[in-house]
Amino acid sequence: MEKRVLVTGATRGIGEAVARKYKTKGYFVIGTGTGDQDTPSYLNEYVKCDFSNKTDIEDLCSDLKSWKIDILINNAGINIINNFCSIRSEDFEKVQQVNVYAPFRISQSLIPGMVERGWGRIVSVSSVWGKISKQGRASYSASKFAIDGLTLAMANEFASQGILCNSVAPGFIDTKMTWNNLGQDGVANMLKSVPINRLAKVEEVAELIYMLGSDQNTYISGQNIAIDGGFTRA
Ligand code: NAI
Repeated sequence: MEKRVLVTGATRGIGEAVARKYKTKGYFVIGTGTGDQDTPSYLNEYVKCDFSNKTDIEDLCSDLKSWKIDILINNAGINIINNFCSIRSEDFEKVQQVNVYAPFRISQSLIPGMVERGWGRIVSVSSVWGKISKQGRASYSASKFAIDGLTLAMANEFASQGILCNSVAPGFIDTKMTWNNLGQDGVANMLKSVPINRLAKVEEVAELIYMLGSDQNTYISGQNIAIDGGFTRA
């Protein structure tokens, strides 16, 4: 039977590339986004859900129980950069809700079905700022280290039931988020500390996510794999 995958934040960037990859491989792909829109050609179904709204998360979770999802890609994420002492509580909480709480609730809704079927894959998108950190990234790093902890806990609890959970930690990817956060000069400056000396393409990240989140992965569990051109190891 055709496997079904849910990709959160599938409307652009890494999530769109991941959704396209699964669609090309013949999976039934459901993708989420925050806006009202028609289902794009690379999805089988589009669902609107804003993770900064708890009611939206709970509505999605109650629908999910009947959807028989085999693979979950927790990709949607936001970053609000600010110096530590200036971070507003509501911004800190929003980042945790979108980046950690939503993946937690969605995973919780889907895992019982995966356990019943004896097979599941969950890949969560962390970041290099979930392995190391830098100025202005407290909210984001807190959320990305947390998604790694969540991944480890799920991996340990469910690996024996056929559910393999991993996270990936992209470095500097050629997406809107990167250009918005760093700007032209920031990107050029940052590349000086990336041994490969270029931004990654979203398709390169999608390849790794697909490998971990498909039956190509038979023995990788509980890992947080950096795809960063060597940045965190230089
Ligand atoms: P993007 O900003 O291009 O796309 C984000 C996706 O998440 C969109 O589909 C959007 O609809 C969805 N989204 C945004 N706010 C949301 C909300 N409140 N509720 C639900 N969905 C929401 O992001 P990008 O760059 O493709 O990032 C995807 C993931 O990769 C994120 O988790 C991000 O933290 C992570 N990442 C990105 C890097 C980069 O260089 N772009 C580097 C490291 C990690």
